[in-house]
Amino acid sequence: MEKTRLLILFGGQSEEHEVSCRSAVTVIRAVDQEKYEMLLVGVTKEGHWVKTDDVSQIEKDCWQKGKVSAVLSPDAVNRGVWLMDGKKTELWPVDAAFSVLHGRLGEDGSIQGIFELARIPYVGCGILSPALAMDKIYTKKIVESLGIRQAKYVVLRKRELADREKAAGLVEEHLSYPVFVKPSCSGSSRGVSQAKNRGELWDSLASAARYDSKILVEETIVGRELECAVLGGDDPRASGVGEILSAADFYDYDAKYNNPQSRTAADPELPGDAAGEIRRDAVEIFQAIDGWGMARVDFFLEEKTGEVVFNEMNTIPGFTSISMYPFLWESRGLSVENLVERLIRLAFVREKER
Ligand SMILES: Nc1ncnc2c1ncn2[C@@H]1O[C@H](COP(=O)(O)OP(=O)(O)O)[C@@H](O)[C@H]1O
Ligand SMILES: [Mg+2]
Repeated sequence: MEKTRLLILFGGQSEEHEVSCRSAVTVIRAVDQEKYEMLLVGVTKEGHWVKTDDVSQIEKDCWQKGKVSAVLSPDAVNRGVWLMDGKKTELWPVDAAFSVLHGRLGEDGSIQGIFELARIPYVGCGILSPALAMDKIYTKKIVESLGIRQAKYVVLRKRELADREKAAGLVEEHLSYPVFVKPSCSGSSRGVSQAKNRGELWDSLASAARYDSKILVEETIVGRELECAVLGGDDPRASGVGEILSAADFYDYDAKYNNPQSRTAADPELPGDAAGEIRRDAVEIFQAIDGWGMARVDFFLEEKTGEVVFNEMNTIPGFTSISMYPFLWESRGLSVENLVERLIRLAFVREKER
């Protein structure tokens, strides 16, 4: 039997580049080599696309030195990746793609747009849902329409920061300290911080503005951090609930990826029907943003009210060895190998349904 030719994309220009490389290692190792022939293409931080020969080069972080340029063509007839090695150019035909690019220019509909043009079946959500979910402010508007609770918020544009007093006044009119400040489009906690007073608010706004021109300021939700994985097409299913046990005050980049004391737990004990509510909300939000394939939906369980509060969602969730998405499915008896296979199959199902 001929093998299915699978393109794996990783790295990327976003601030989540390193996380994407780590996610790619998990995915590549989980792909069934009997069934699939893989082409590994890394995107450098500058946005150069290079063919990578072996997963160990990603682990050793030396894939950037690859000599063969890879160009994903939007051509739907000559469908695939053009490999350019000096003067020699050849087409590597692609049957399906699995992009593990997190964050901007990967998890925001842009790569999905190229796959659509080329008519290449691809893993995960289509163009609309990543574009929406990448933008925390737009996600909030959708979730608002579902009547699911989320943190109260204020939106500021970068240009509004020029008048610091006015910007702080706007925040203080609607929210009380401490507040959380985050770039609308970012991930892995980049640019996210808490501000306890006006002075800190200015610092937080400035650091969020380094990542995006739209800034979200939210009331602080004190409580537990819970996440839920969604998998499927027309009839998506929710995994069990996972809990983040952060080693830091909040789940910042270091707490997520560098602090071994941060832990995750599957199916923690939760009061009442909190787990059921989270699982139902996760699927409802996934469908409301027109999700397909996979997403991870994140919540808080507020301490003082016991209420479930939606936080944010990710359409290309982390696949690192400590990531919640594969972990939650593994706890439900679905190995990462079977999970990856299921996700690739779903890419073909969507293609066929069209
Ligand atoms: N409104 C909030 N109240 C309390 N903690 C928050 C709030 N918003 C974010 N956080 C903390 O910051 C972390 C990162 O914020 P998040 O919105 O998840 O952005 P990212 O997309 O970077 O993961 C969360 O995991 C949580 O620990
Ligand atoms: Mg998050």
